[in-house]
Amino acid sequence: MVRTIDWIDGAIELIDQTRLPGALEKRRITTLDDLIVDIQRLAVRGAPALGVAGALGVAMIAQQASSLDEVHANAALLREARPTAVNLSWGVDRVMKRIDEGPAAVLTEALAIRDEDVAASISMGLYGADLVRSLVTREKARIMTICNTGGLAAVERGTALGVIQTIFEQGWLEEAFPVETRPLLQGARLTAWELTQMGAPFRLLVDSAGPFLLSRGIADAVFIGADRIAANGDTANKVGSFSLALAAQRAGVPFIVVAPESTVDVNTETGEDIEIEDRGSEEVTNFAGLRTAPEGTRTVNPAFDVTPHDLITAIVTDRRIVRPALGQTMRNVDLGPTRT
Ligand code: MRU
Repeated sequence: MVRTIDWIDGAIELIDQTRLPGALEKRRITTLDDLIVDIQRLAVRGAPALGVAGALGVAMIAQQASSLDEVHANAALLREARPTAVNLSWGVDRVMKRIDEGPAAVLTEALAIRDEDVAASISMGLYGADLVRSLVTREKARIMTICNTGGLAAVERGTALGVIQTIFEQGWLEEAFPVETRPLLQGARLTAWELTQMGAPFRLLVDSAGPFLLSRGIADAVFIGADRIAANGDTANKVGSFSLALAAQRAGVPFIVVAPESTVDVNTETGEDIEIEDRGSEEVTNFAGLRTAPEGTRTVNPAFDVTPHDLITAIVTDRRIVRPALGQTMRNVDLGPTRT
């Protein structure tokens, strides 16, 4: 299995996701500037992968810096590279706690984050699959999903798509329905690619077909990932998640968020407090390098939206299942074991 991001021979190696599905290419990152540019142009993306990028990035900075002040300044630049996924700042901050012990200790911590991410994905898959089994009455499950939440969004396997993979491996996935995920097509380019690699059955939908098809009973559950989960369970995820949640509620279909504990941010009280990245005009006024809107068109381009907790049937992490629609919060449900 090719890892999405890893530490190989003293440098960061990552899959350049802007080249998929056409080419599977790796990049070797040896400077902070290159890492920040790759995060911002979404060569590496997805909340868990960003957490690992933040941690390995600090390990790289710590080895190169000539003073502690330089490490602190560069770590601050890295943690701000994208604002919405809390995993990035979480990964940077966790390894920075060991900076006084020297670069070797920082690298050890960063590698632990990488390894924990692999274990978390396996655990989420098992918790998530058991939950779907208890919610879906049909013999085989049909699951709608948005964006890319698979191995490409983590080190391996991933979150929501990791659950779909687990269900497929267990032999009871009838079909997955990824939505294409405008404007950067993470669903079409990345999720469809991963499902193809797995050999799993799927059909791709345009984003705007998702809510209507839920009303027609096409899926038994909607599974999404998360970029930040607030203390009350409100969840930021790729724009388009909120409309799927509204439609799922109306259709009586379970709406399930899957994310590692590193995406839970109890310092953020509600979704209102989550900063939503706006990625500017070009992604909306142009498509594949061609202008699709008149010159001078102004845009609003939020990369994420927030699904309120009352629309969320369950949040599955690597350590627990929380049911926000039933009044549970990220503060009042205890952690359980990581499953293997
Ligand atoms: O802009 P992206 O591609 O980084 O957005 C990613 C998402 O919204 C994912 O759904 C989220 O990070 C969870 S990934 C397991």
